[in-house]
Amino acid sequence: MNPLIFPMPGNEAFAEALAGHLFGEVGGFETRKFPDEETYLRLLRDPSGRDVVIVCTLDRPDPKIAPLIFAADAARSLGATRVGLVAPYLSYLRQDRRFQLGEAISSASFARLLSASFDWLVTVDPHLHRYGSLDEIYALRSRVVPAAKRLSEWIAGNVKDPILIGPDSESEQWVSDVAKRAGAPSQVLQKERRGDLDVRISLPDAKLLHGRTPVLLDDIISSARTMIAAAHHLLSLGCPPPVCLATHGIIAADSLALLTKVAGQVVTTNTIPNPVSQIDISPDVALAISALLAEPAV
Ligand code: R5P
Repeated sequence: MNPLIFPMPGNEAFAEALAGHLFGEVGGFETRKFPDEETYLRLLRDPSGRDVVIVCTLDRPDPKIAPLIFAADAARSLGATRVGLVAPYLSYLRQDRRFQLGEAISSASFARLLSASFDWLVTVDPHLHRYGSLDEIYALRSRVVPAAKRLSEWIAGNVKDPILIGPDSESEQWVSDVAKRAGAPSQVLQKERRGDLDVRISLPDAKLLHGRTPVLLDDIISSARTMIAAAHHLLSLGCPPPVCLATHGIIAADSLALLTKVAGQVVTTNTIPNPVSQIDISPDVALAISALLAEPAV
């Protein structure tokens, strides 16, 4: 039977797109807060004997966690064959070690929590820095969907003579792949983050930029301070305002307004709904789900 897809609040459009690709059905929840702020949740479709897919992108994660766990556990206890999580953006990966004595390693705690309630996980380009793969912390089957193909297609269709610029060494993994696919040159800068909103970036090589449209590419735009610092350098070198492209547009607070002042264009994929999430990654996510569902249930 085709999967039953439940969107957590805010994930309806992505879930509908997945249902279209997978010939799945979309289920719903009744959810509200009790007067004491605890969560009430009820599945409005019977998951018994079905493969259940819960869609919940995990930016701004803390208020989403309790309802998500309740939904997964309810589906399982009501007889779902398997319960999978599609988290197009997977949070809590940055704190992957103790930088100062006493700190929580939230990535490992978060992984343990999700692994206890789900059979499998599909996500898009997780921010793996010091972890080699999700398997180091997640005890479930997982598939990682790369955004490189969609990003490079967007560049090829929208940017004349691009040069890709990664703002820090971590972005190298995405930038080189996307540049190769788009047939464009690239360079990677160095970043020093002195505080949440205080970012210093090394100067790009002006010779490589000549006659090209700069495309700043990163996995995440959050405060946008990384892209803004890099864009200032490009403008100071006489480049046209850069195209700012990212897989995950978290777009915190005033970041889009600030970035728009120095960017020619800002575009992200739709892993997180935001005003510039134009690039649809749902067909690739659907393929990853199909592959997981084709495997025998454990
Ligand atoms: C950092 O490690 C990431 O790859 C991004 O560069 C970072 O998350 C961007 O953050 P912000 O938009 O807050 O500068």
